[in-house]
Amino acid sequence: MAVQGNILTAFAAGALGASGILVSLLRNPTWSRRILGHRNQIEEVSTLHPDYKPGDKQPSPFTSDKYLALNPAELGDAMYPFMISAVVPRPVAFVSSLSKNGAGNLSPYSYFNAMSHDPPMVVIGHSYSSAKKDTGGKKDTLANILETGEFVVNIMNEWYVEAANFTCGPYDRGINEMTLSGLTPMESVKVKPPRVKESAVHFECKLVHSYEIKNHTGKATGMIVVGEVLLAHMHEEVATKSPHSGHDVVDLKKYSPVSRLGGVSYGRTTEYYNIPRPPKEEQKTPKTASEADEKARL
Ligand SMILES: *[C@@H]1O[C@H](CO)[C@@H](O)[C@H](O)[C@H]1NC(C)=O
Ligand SMILES: *[C@@H]1O[C@H](CO)[C@@H](O)[C@H](O)[C@H]1NC(C)=O
Repeated sequence: MAVQGNILTAFAAGALGASGILVSLLRNPTWSRRILGHRNQIEEVSTLHPDYKPGDKQPSPFTSDKYLALNPAELGDAMYPFMISAVVPRPVAFVSSLSKNGAGNLSPYSYFNAMSHDPPMVVIGHSYSSAKKDTGGKKDTLANILETGEFVVNIMNEWYVEAANFTCGPYDRGINEMTLSGLTPMESVKVKPPRVKESAVHFECKLVHSYEIKNHTGKATGMIVVGEVLLAHMHEEVATKSPHSGHDVVDLKKYSPVSRLGGVSYGRTTEYYNIPRPPKEEQKTPKTASEADEKARL
């Protein structure tokens, strides 16, 4: 429909002259970006090879068997574009923190994940910045977490990415990105830093461990911070009951989670497939054709 509409537009523009056509083609909707609605249209699909049997070779799209080796000891900081393009999609921690003087800070981190559930522990990787000379490279969020031992991880949802993007700027310490961006602070229960009201899930965290990263020349280049979740919050309108356990879980259809990809790209979750785990009996199935031959000979 959109393309057809554009052809019509192009014809109409034709009547107005060649420059009109050019303008219209430049506006071709297949080249420009669609504006998103608020909620994902999430769809269940099948895997690529639904007829797979244990031992089958999985066809790959590759025509050669060459791999490029990337050596961190030589590349140093130049590993960054590769790392963030290779480890995808990454969840995003939108971290709220306070300095010991109570100045607020809000910033997204994509070196982030949850590592356990009993108790829930989250990990955030902070890269030092050459612009932060007074703190030895530590950005405001990290400086705050180390000072107070507290932070809140807000999960990123599609409906507030523009404001979250605004908070990424290299603003001075003491500048409160929450206020500037228009996002809404919401009081936490167990920690001092506020939650972000626009986010569907919040984790109130206390710092339990920090590990400084040194590169191959011995220079401190970052810090990994481990936090224990003292209290988690889920907005009631994204909540559902797990069909398996009956416990409270997030409903993916209502969640619109944001993920980080390489470069400055972000990902949406619009399709998924369900893969039941194999039962124990599968261990008797020969793994490969040659293994099957071997078994037949014995
Ligand atoms: C280690 O870090 C320093 C400071 O950021 C940088 O100048 C140097 O290139 C890095 N060295 C390697 C091998 O990564
Ligand atoms: C993200 O921030 C940059 C810098 O302010 C701005 O140019 C860009 O348009 C913003 N993107 C969105 C989606 O708001």
